[in-house]
Amino acid sequence: MSDLENLLSEDRRFPPSMEFAQAANAQPGMYAEADTDRLGFWERQARELSWAQDWTQVLDWSGAPFARWFVGGRLNVAVNCLDRHVDAGFGDQVAIHFEGEPGDTRTITYAGLLAEVSQAANALTELGVQAGDRVAIYLPMIPEAAVAMLACARIGAPHSVVFGGFSADALSSRIADADAKVVITADGGYRKGGAFALKPAVDEAVEQCPGVEHVLVVRRTGQEVGWTDKDVWWHDVVGRQPSTHTAVAFDAEHPLFILYTSGTTAKPKGILHTTGGYLTQVTFTHRNVFDLKPDTDVYWCTADVGWVTGHSYVVYGPLANRATQVMYEGTPDTPHQGRWWEIVANYGVTILYTAPTAIRTFMKWGEQLPAEHDLSSLRLLGSVGEPINPEAWMWYRRVIGGDRCPIVDTWWQTETGAIMISPLPGVTATKPGSAMRALPGIGANVVDDQGRPVPDGGGGYLVLDQPWPSMLRGIWGDPERYAQTYWSRFDGIYFAGDGAKKDADGDLWLLGRVDDVMNVSGHRISTTEVESALVSHPAVAEAAVVGADDPMTGQAIVAFVIPRGGAPEETDALIAELRAHVATQIGAIAKPRNVFIVQELPKTRSGKIMRRLLKDVAENREVGDTTTLADGSVMSAISGRLAAGGGTGDES
Ligand code: PRX
Repeated sequence: MSDLENLLSEDRRFPPSMEFAQAANAQPGMYAEADTDRLGFWERQARELSWAQDWTQVLDWSGAPFARWFVGGRLNVAVNCLDRHVDAGFGDQVAIHFEGEPGDTRTITYAGLLAEVSQAANALTELGVQAGDRVAIYLPMIPEAAVAMLACARIGAPHSVVFGGFSADALSSRIADADAKVVITADGGYRKGGAFALKPAVDEAVEQCPGVEHVLVVRRTGQEVGWTDKDVWWHDVVGRQPSTHTAVAFDAEHPLFILYTSGTTAKPKGILHTTGGYLTQVTFTHRNVFDLKPDTDVYWCTADVGWVTGHSYVVYGPLANRATQVMYEGTPDTPHQGRWWEIVANYGVTILYTAPTAIRTFMKWGEQLPAEHDLSSLRLLGSVGEPINPEAWMWYRRVIGGDRCPIVDTWWQTETGAIMISPLPGVTATKPGSAMRALPGIGANVVDDQGRPVPDGGGGYLVLDQPWPSMLRGIWGDPERYAQTYWSRFDGIYFAGDGAKKDADGDLWLLGRVDDVMNVSGHRISTTEVESALVSHPAVAEAAVVGADDPMTGQAIVAFVIPRGGAPEETDALIAELRAHVATQIGAIAKPRNVFIVQELPKTRSGKIMRRLLKDVAENREVGDTTTLADGSVMSAISGRLAAGGGTGDES
């Protein structure tokens, strides 16, 4: 509650400068315009794109919760991102300034990108990929990732990008669920000063997935790779294709991509996005939330293409708006902790979009690092992925933004496809830590347990009460889970899974997840997913996982594990092994910060694990109400175990 009280007393306001406001793409009238005629508003946004065939209906919601937007319309996403800019005479404009971690660079113009995408589209066609076939993409942050996605979009083959940090197991379950025919990968990539490998994980995954016919391999690092008869080199097959390709238009509801994200069960959900509505909303939000001026801005979104932010705000939104952008392969501290600021200065970045966890890391590293570089090109800053604490917000504004750049804290999800709640940078007087309001054309609210909107000053659950163009069209292969997960908590409205509060002015403050989903460095991981990885280890009888507050990563994964057959002799060795085991099962991002070996878990009389109590312990709080516990002494035993420290299995 004290956090909520603090929010209510936040009285700092940061309106845009007069100069910024006057030149902004989004002007104040946009809210009223959208309120007056919501569908007409979205229809006008859709007209900013190039359509091969007009729609007959803006929204068909008769099959709710399955929406159809721009019914009957036809378009090609890649044509909207590339051909139309080249046709309009912007072929020589830089689309991507690529910077590899080792310092290699590539400058790719719109004409160059179109040629590469055309070649890749021809190559996929040669490999037998047809419209509707799924293609899995498992690549580092290199231009080929964007090329591969756009080539899939161009031929109507939905892509499923799997983050390069995921393990072979995670990759194979995603390939299998989507039944992908082709996998696009690389030998490896560069991270933290060295080459990491991707191909071995693909080899292992493809062995489990007989449906995969070809693996297209980009040579990035030149490291040794194993080779099977399904493997073909990108430079061979793509390289010899013609650099022109005639694209056909697809239905507005043609599937564009599947992206897996964690839900509250151990099985990730394949979130499905389609073509016309998705592109309309990512393009609209990218232009208006980031105030993109295609002729002068240099935009940089630091997200990996493996996450939805990389889909919507590295690939589709920026390219549809003819942005010039920076793409960086590596980590922020390689070879030194000033790397990002060097990049901003070198390329003259004007718009920077990143995550609170990165900002907090830079705060820890100290303000002397950004101060060594000229950041005066920056004119707008964005934040995404988790609630940004007011201290980090203020630091971002002052140290990175030189007290002059508006900050847009953008709330959205894999499921929403595009930004939903955010300031409009030339309109909104922002408050440090608040995402402020639903964008024009978007309906968001905070409701209580019964689904009734709370008054200003109240807290509850964040819901979206109007269908929106880039909304997910379902969960791949599981329509029931879609309806159940998002639309059953409150009748007919979308439940986002987040807690939120309205302040006295009705502005929104996001309070994190209210379900069993953790948010670690802006990445979604479910407690059950990690628990099931832990119990798949032969030494584990039972496991409970909680997300504990962490000053750097937002939340950290803390696991409580009951070993099989009593206390192990080598606790530290087991802990280290279990942490490594989770990394193999899911990926390094899911590795628990702490694993505590306990003899019992707190359970209710009906056998339900009381995670709330474990969270209290993990966050060093006094343990809450234990009266519903079957065995009241369990918590003191666990607290005693934690007080003894450790849990990491090593010195770190
Ligand atoms: O809890 C919210 C948090 O991230 C979740 C969505 O995660 P994902 O689908 O991986 O997409 C992340 C990038 C869009 C949300 O349910 N979240 C995202 N942005 C914010 C946020 N929480 C608070 N403030 C934000 N700006």
